[in-house]
Amino acid sequence: MNRFRKPSRFAALVAFAAAGLLAAGPAAAQQGKLKVGLMLPYTGTYAALGTAITNGFKLAVEENGGKLGGREIEYFTVDDESDPAKAPENANKLIKRDNVDVLVGTVHSGVALAMSKVARDNNTLLIIPNAGADDITGPLCAANVFRTSFSNSQPGRAMGKVMAEQKKKTAVTITWKYAAGEESIGGFKEDFEAGGGKVVKELYLPFPQVEFQSYLTEIAALKPDVVYAFFAGGGAVKFVKDYAAAGLKTTIPLVGPGFLTDGTLEAQGESAQGMLTTLHYGDGLNIPKNNAFRAAYTKAYKVEPDVYAMQGYDAAQLLVIGMNAVKGDTSKRADLVKAMEGARIDSPRGSLALSKGHNPIHDIYLRKVEGKENKVVGVAVKNLTDPPRGCKL
Ligand code: PHB
Repeated sequence: MNRFRKPSRFAALVAFAAAGLLAAGPAAAQQGKLKVGLMLPYTGTYAALGTAITNGFKLAVEENGGKLGGREIEYFTVDDESDPAKAPENANKLIKRDNVDVLVGTVHSGVALAMSKVARDNNTLLIIPNAGADDITGPLCAANVFRTSFSNSQPGRAMGKVMAEQKKKTAVTITWKYAAGEESIGGFKEDFEAGGGKVVKELYLPFPQVEFQSYLTEIAALKPDVVYAFFAGGGAVKFVKDYAAAGLKTTIPLVGPGFLTDGTLEAQGESAQGMLTTLHYGDGLNIPKNNAFRAAYTKAYKVEPDVYAMQGYDAAQLLVIGMNAVKGDTSKRADLVKAMEGARIDSPRGSLALSKGHNPIHDIYLRKVEGKENKVVGVAVKNLTDPPRGCKL
C-alpha cells in the first residue's frame, strides 16, 4: 500500500521529463517526423500514374538524405480511385485522422478540386503533382495550395498553335467529359481558332469509359484535317491502339497533349509511332538534370520515368525548398509559403518557376514518338504561363 503514497523515483523522472518537454514548447514537437499524406490513384485507369508520382516523390526525398528540413518522413497513403465522390472523405481521413502536415495529390482534376477545398477549409499545405484543373490556380487559388505539374489548358494551347501553324483547317476533338478533358480541349480550341483553324466537332465520353468504336466511325465520316484527343493512362493506351486499328492513323493525324503517349509507349507499340504531342517534358531532353534524374530513377525502380514521375519528383523538390527555409518548423507557415513561392526549381523539364497562383511557368515542348521515346523536336511555346484568371493572392 505504501508504494502509492509517495511518488516513485520513476514517476518523478517521468514528470521531470514531461515538464522539460513542455518548457521546450512547439519547437521540440517540430523535431518529430514530418507526416506526408499521399492521396493518389493506385487502382483504375490512372493507377500507373499514381505509382510513378509516388516513386518520383520518394526519390527526391531520398536524394535529400531521406529528410525534409532535417526531419524524417512518415508517409500515409490513400488510394483515391480517381473517384471525386470519395475525395472529401479520403482527404479528411489524412488531415483529421492521420494529422498529416502536408498533403500530396492527386492525378484526377475532379478529385483534386474536392481535395483542394478540404485543404483550404483546414489550411493544410497541399502540393498537386498532376491534376491540372485550371481553377485551382485561378479563381480558387490559395496560399496553402501549390502545383508542380501544369494546368490543363497549357499543353492544349501549345498544340492548337502548332496545328494552326501547320495550316490545318479543321479539327475534331475527343475526350472524357470532366474538367481535365474539357479544359485541354478548351486550350486547344482557343489557340487553334485564333490561328485560323476551326474545331468542327467536340466528342465526349463519360470518364473512364473506353468504348471508342462509334466515335471512331463518326470521326471517319467527318474527315477533319486533324484529331486532338485528351486521354491518359490505360485509356490513352486503348484509344491510340483503337485509332490505328480503325485505319484512321494513315488518313487523319492524331495529336494531343503528351499524356496520350507518356508512360504508355511500351503498350501502344506500333500504333503510336510518329505521333506529335505537346508537353512540359520529354524523355530525351538532353539537360544534365534530366539525365541525372532518369539514371537515378531507372536505377531505383528498374523502369523508365515518365512525366508523372518527374512531377512527383518536383513536388518533393519544392517541399525541400520550403522545409529547408524554415529548418523543418512547419509552424512558420508564412515563411515556408514565401520560400516555395520564390522557388526556382532545377527540374528535369528545365528551369521551373511558379506563377502568382502557384502554377508552373515552363516551356511546352513539341515531341514526336520514335520507338519507345517521346523525342523532343522543338519548343512549341516558351515560358508559358496562365493568363491571370481571378487569383487574388
Ligand atoms: C487530370 O485529371 O487533371 C489529368 C489526369 C491525367 C493526366 C492529365 C490530367 O494525364
